[in-house]
Amino acid sequence: MRSLLFVPADDAKKQAKALNSETDAIILDMEDSVSLKNKVMARDVVKEFFAQTSTEKIIIVRINALDTEFWRDDMAVIADLAPDYILVPKARSGEDIATINALIEKSSNAANKTKIIALVTETPESIFNMASFKNCANRLSALTWGAEDLSAEIGAQTNKDQNGVYFPVYQLARSWCLLGASNAEVSAIDSVFTNFKDDDGLRAEAIVAKTEGFWGKMIIHPRQIKIVNEVFTVSDSEIAHAKEVIDAIENSKMGGVAQLNGEMIDQPHYKRALRVVMRQQK
Ligand code: COA
Ligand code: MG
Repeated sequence: MRSLLFVPADDAKKQAKALNSETDAIILDMEDSVSLKNKVMARDVVKEFFAQTSTEKIIIVRINALDTEFWRDDMAVIADLAPDYILVPKARSGEDIATINALIEKSSNAANKTKIIALVTETPESIFNMASFKNCANRLSALTWGAEDLSAEIGAQTNKDQNGVYFPVYQLARSWCLLGASNAEVSAIDSVFTNFKDDDGLRAEAIVAKTEGFWGKMIIHPRQIKIVNEVFTVSDSEIAHAKEVIDAIENSKMGGVAQLNGEMIDQPHYKRALRVVMRQQK
């Protein structure tokens, strides 16, 4: 998944538009983009979406957070629709993920299919509990992060400076997500870039994210799809190089070390190469 496009769960028109786009995944959002008065109606729109839709795209549903009055009823409807993933917002610890995991297992439709992505930096509590996401649930497949809710929790006026650079606390949250994902042996997905008319800013942020180890990026507007897909596509030359590294190490007569084009390569290079090939296959 390179691009994961958010679409409000109560907006059938945008959902149709997303289905006709080049996004890899659609996130039907029942949480922050849906007003309180539309929470119940949004469930019906999502039901209708699944009834009408047959698509190759990956479908993700973001339910409401586990400290709200909505998430149980969301799960009662969503689990049986068996989306590819459920995105759990404001996950406070691995315990929240285990709770959702158990509900998925109870649904005969979802049990064979539905995995979980967790938003793990939206409250300070989640950040302090980052280690608890390791081994918390067999369906957990990725961690992602958000700066908007975290800045609201902290009481900050904004999360970026005048140049569009995240303040240190949000850079820390982002890094923590990356480390948490690696610790839990799942993928890391980068957060949204809200200034959706700033193509250069989006590209720059996406390039840094890919270089640092994120596997894809959540987006909020169709015009962001092309840029994010381009940046997160694993290129043929990256794959060819990774395969050379794997080949050199696996056939090395010197144990875990080898030389490739005059450079020493060993286990970290091998591990990185395996990840590149794995990423291509997802
Ligand atoms: N998915 C699908 N279609 C979208 C879209 C999205 N996320 N965002 C915009 N579009 C469509 C619009 O409906 C419009 O379609 P039209 O030309 O057929 O009328 C077209 O793209 C251009 O949209 P634009 O006028 O530039 O933006 P807008 O004012 O309609 O919407 C937002 C702006 C931010 C409200 C909208 O992009 C959005 O809803 N994003 C997702 C918000 C969200 O889910 N947030 C939660 C996670 S952070
Ligand atoms: Mg939010």
